[in-house]
Amino acid sequence: MSERVVVIGQGYVGLPVAVRAVETGFDVVGFEVDTEKVKNLNAGSSHVEDITDERLAAALATGRYRSSNEVADLAGFDIAVISVPTPMAEGAPDLSYIESASQTLAPFLRSGATVILESTTYPGTTEELCGPLLEEGSGLKMGADFHLGYSPERIDPGNQTYRLENTPKVVSGVDAASLAQVQAFFDRLVERTVPVSGTREAELTKLLENTFRHVNIALVNELAMFAHDLGIDVWESIDAASTKPFGYMRFTPGPGVGGHCLPIDPSYLSWQIERSLGQTFRFVELANDVNSHMPDYVVRRVQHLLNDMERSVKGSKVLVFGLAYKANTGDARETPAIPLCTQLVELGAVVSVADPHVADRQFPAIVTRVEGSASDLADADLILFLVEHAEFDRAAISQARVPVLDCRRALDGPTVSHL
Ligand SMILES: NC(=O)c1ccc[n+]([C@@H]2O[C@H](COP(=O)([O-])OP(=O)(O)OC[C@H]3O[C@@H](n4cnc5c(N)ncnc54)[C@H](O)[C@@H]3O)[C@@H](O)[C@H]2O)c1
Repeated sequence: MSERVVVIGQGYVGLPVAVRAVETGFDVVGFEVDTEKVKNLNAGSSHVEDITDERLAAALATGRYRSSNEVADLAGFDIAVISVPTPMAEGAPDLSYIESASQTLAPFLRSGATVILESTTYPGTTEELCGPLLEEGSGLKMGADFHLGYSPERIDPGNQTYRLENTPKVVSGVDAASLAQVQAFFDRLVERTVPVSGTREAELTKLLENTFRHVNIALVNELAMFAHDLGIDVWESIDAASTKPFGYMRFTPGPGVGGHCLPIDPSYLSWQIERSLGQTFRFVELANDVNSHMPDYVVRRVQHLLNDMERSVKGSKVLVFGLAYKANTGDARETPAIPLCTQLVELGAVVSVADPHVADRQFPAIVTRVEGSASDLADADLILFLVEHAEFDRAAISQARVPVLDCRRALDGPTVSHL
């Protein structure tokens, strides 16, 4: 009989893990509190772009995958993976989802079973929060009776090259036996696992990766603003610097950061450092400051472009390409496009937005949803290009007769200026 796996949370992280586990022979329950998602998943409709409906259908057809919101379906699991959200609430990490997932799992925990936390969180969560809750609800002891570990997810939504299976996966456990179990599980799912000595090291690894990205994006964002004022093409310098084969890594400016990771994860780390050591993680604070103000900078550039035409923002029709926070995904969580559009509307602009990936319910009521067609282009006073979705007709946008502010350097034309 196949080993029984439960994956708590069937979102961007949990669904790919569940489907991959089915493909490698496990019997999987995708436990999910959102009943709409449960219904759709069981009907073969995936809400996560990286898992196509065909792949989900193949998983369902094995008879070894189903999604459920019934706690009774957790019974008898051998391995449980927790992949629930870890947002910020009022400036502090909100671990309530991890707490509730651990409490739900605990009564079903059996001797010899393994629990793996995958949610991004600050160092210490697995052993100090998850472990004790599992012990309390099961009467078992971590390490002695059940295995517990942490393995951060590295999923990059929309990335066709690096997927779950060919991206090395960091694994850890509260003791050697737990590490062995966690590693054995992921060795079946991915090509390469990378063991580290403890769960805190694994938790910090994920935060280091995201903080590194956040800080470097802030660096190029700040540089882009200075270079523009100095009359230097920062994009050309970035291209040139990227030819250095060692000691340099390419990051590009943009209208701000979004998604579940960059705007949140580094703050988990700075919050913990402040709380435990009474110190400020200055790099994170600075990066938060620069990146969260990029929408203000973009609005200023819009004002200047309209000013050059002797127009005000008030009454101007601004056509925005892209509401998602990154290309070719429908994920609009924490997207900088929303504060940006809000500011433009507050200044009196009439804002319309084209984004073929984002669901209607994620569009703010203050904007009008459009296709981004030739007539939309003809109707606009200014165009803002925020995200390089493959569906956007770059040639047509590049030839627009009105000013185009391209925040991704994806366009080239007589009226196009870059961030
Ligand atoms: N999205 C990414 O690119 C990414 C990458 C790496 C790590 N992460 C981390 O992974 C974690 C999950 O992120 P995500 O993007 O998959 O979030 P998500 O919101 O897409 O999915 C989480 C799912 O968990 C469900 N859920 C919440 N509480 C539950 C419970 N008690 N029982 C069952 N289901 C529950 C939610 O309804 C939701 O469907 C976060 O900690 C995030 O930081 C995300």
